[in-house]
Amino acid sequence: MSSKICVIGSSNIDQIAYTKNIPADGETLFGDSFQMGFGGKGANQAVMAGLLGADVYMITCLGDDVYKEMTINNYEANNVNTDHIQLVKGASGVAPIWVDATGQNRIIVIPGANNEIDAQKAISSIEEIGDISVLVGQCEIPMEVNHEVFQYAKSNSVTTIFNPAPAKKLEREFLEHISWLIPNENEFELISGMEPNDDNFLKFNEEIPCNLIVTLGEKGAVLVDENKTYYFDAPSVNAIDTTGAGDSFIGTFAYELSESNSPESCIKKAVEKASQSVTKKGTQSSYS
Ligand code: RIB
Repeated sequence: MSSKICVIGSSNIDQIAYTKNIPADGETLFGDSFQMGFGGKGANQAVMAGLLGADVYMITCLGDDVYKEMTINNYEANNVNTDHIQLVKGASGVAPIWVDATGQNRIIVIPGANNEIDAQKAISSIEEIGDISVLVGQCEIPMEVNHEVFQYAKSNSVTTIFNPAPAKKLEREFLEHISWLIPNENEFELISGMEPNDDNFLKFNEEIPCNLIVTLGEKGAVLVDENKTYYFDAPSVNAIDTTGAGDSFIGTFAYELSESNSPESCIKKAVEKASQSVTKKGTQSSYS
């Protein structure tokens, strides 16, 4: 029986336009193709863990629009428990995305119902689910909610993983509730106020009360220890669409950690999965 993983975070519908060139101000361009699919950083991380066979519970908030039912069905189809999804009136989250010829993306998130998630209900869900080994979160729901929920979880001996995406400055007090902080390089820069390089990874690691991993895109990831950094290279692949690759890393890392594997082995697997995901189009549709 797998350990329980709980993800609290966003659900979006991704609307992805593939285009060779990104339009300039005031310019209209023809793109190459369009794909709509399931996304949201929280949802992606939960689905990745679910596909790996984890016992995953999703705490998220959906609106009462056409996306509600299909999103719930998608979670169920991907082995993610939906008993703790909150529902509100109004629109669910959506994310228009542009992916260029190099596979790089630009994303605008319109949070909708994600902003309405209720902290007390989420804490009751965590109590009801019981025996959670790993809680995962990101910044696509209000930080006040993350704060209350992560505080509760950490004080109840849950291992907590926080992916500060999209990047937000994090209060020292919030970081006290985090076991593993996993930003990418851009997020590292914003959170730490320092350029992402080896010296600064070590420097920032000294300042924070939690473990630090920085994901490096096509270069893999780095685990930052007290006075040493450990780099995990990514295999060289043909990147078609990088959307959701970071989430694939987090979902895999959470699953591997919940299986009591060493951090090094969790990172290796996570880099592998994230690299695989960029070779296919779409967000969750690129996961396997
Ligand atoms: O990390 C990729 C995700 O960011 C997309 O699925 C989009 O919905 C936004 O949340």
